Amino acid sequence: MLKAAVIGLGSMGRNHARVYREIENVHLCGVVDSNKTTVANVSRLQFTPGFESVDELLKADRPDLVSLAVPTSMHFEFAMQLVEQGIHVLVEKPITQTVEQAERLVAAAQSHGVTLAVGHIERFNPVIVELRRRLGEGMLGRLYQLHAHRLSPYPSRISDTGVVMDLASHDIDLMLHLVNEPVVRLFGETLGSINDDREDLFNGMMKFRSGAVGILDVNWMTPRKVRTLTLTGSRGMFTCDLLRQELFFYENNSAPSQWDQLSILHGVSEGNVLGIRIERKEPLRAEIEDFIRAVSDGVRPRVDGQDARETLRTALAFIGSGRESVVQDMQTSVIA
Ligand SMILES: NC(=O)c1ccc[n+]([C@@H]2O[C@H](COP(=O)([O-])OP(=O)(O)OC[C@H]3O[C@@H](n4cnc5c(N)ncnc54)[C@H](O)[C@@H]3O)[C@@H](O)[C@H]2O)c1
Repeated sequence: MLKAAVIGLGSMGRNHARVYREIENVHLCGVVDSNKTTVANVSRLQFTPGFESVDELLKADRPDLVSLAVPTSMHFEFAMQLVEQGIHVLVEKPITQTVEQAERLVAAAQSHGVTLAVGHIERFNPVIVELRRRLGEGMLGRLYQLHAHRLSPYPSRISDTGVVMDLASHDIDLMLHLVNEPVVRLFGETLGSINDDREDLFNGMMKFRSGAVGILDVNWMTPRKVRTLTLTGSRGMFTCDLLRQELFFYENNSAPSQWDQLSILHGVSEGNVLGIRIERKEPLRAEIEDFIRAVSDGVRPRVDGQDARETLRTALAFIGSGRESVVQDMQTSVIA
């Protein structure tokens, strides 16, 4: 049986610990947090030894795999330490703070022969799994536009990243995953109101190679949590509610006959609406199961370091664009 540990037991890490305990073919051999009270609580709740540092954990036991959920600014240092010890790592999103760090981490994982997975959890949302399957079958026809809304109240515990890295990285990753093409250019507008050193509100637009446009509306200044994604294409429109795990397809009807008679107007009219049945599943559980499968079967995880590096590169390009009020040409821009 594989041995797992969780490092960083804040709002995300404690859920990783719970999920490892719920999965049968893995044993949670320890949890780590620098906060004494936090580690004592999670250790008691999950019936597993608790440690206040990674070194203490590694002295006591050697996990095969680790979930790393410390603050983003610590991802690189901790992940490198684990990878260099030959331990498989699922690092929370975003992978690191800079593209250069991400590249070094990916290279280190390759040279040590370990799995590096990244917690872009929305790819495991059953709505996205079903949406992607239907896109692959051609249900939407030609994809014109993706539009994401991710609005939240302010998470005061986050002090090392702005809203683009923390929240928009989910939607950037989803768009890259669903379109599966390079971004050619992008433009972002950002606004800092709660913080003056990082952005609290973000609007972005990016153009993919085939012409599809991605629009992002993301902030942590809204007293209501919203997570939606709308895709418009030649055959209709998908709407996804990522929180409720709901997926609808609004079909285009053929253009109405009076338009044909006018014979100059071609358009879209309302057709059938299909509510697509979704088998609900906790995305974090699906993500951790995928990580365990990648480790035990030696296969690629659904979100690997390269994917996460591209998401990070795009997020950083948006931040740069917002700061400097410039369109970033993603084919020529050097983003480190
Ligand atoms: N995938 C998602 O949906 C999702 C959601 C929330 C957070 N995250 C990511 O998870 C990471 C953590 O975010 P969070 O919201 O849980 O933050 P958090 O502040 O709630 O938790 C971080 C934890 O790390 C601990 N920590 C700090 N320094 C440490 C050290 N040196 N050694 C051991 N533990 C240390 C803190 O005590 C704290 O308990 C971030 O990278 C964030 O982007 C992902």
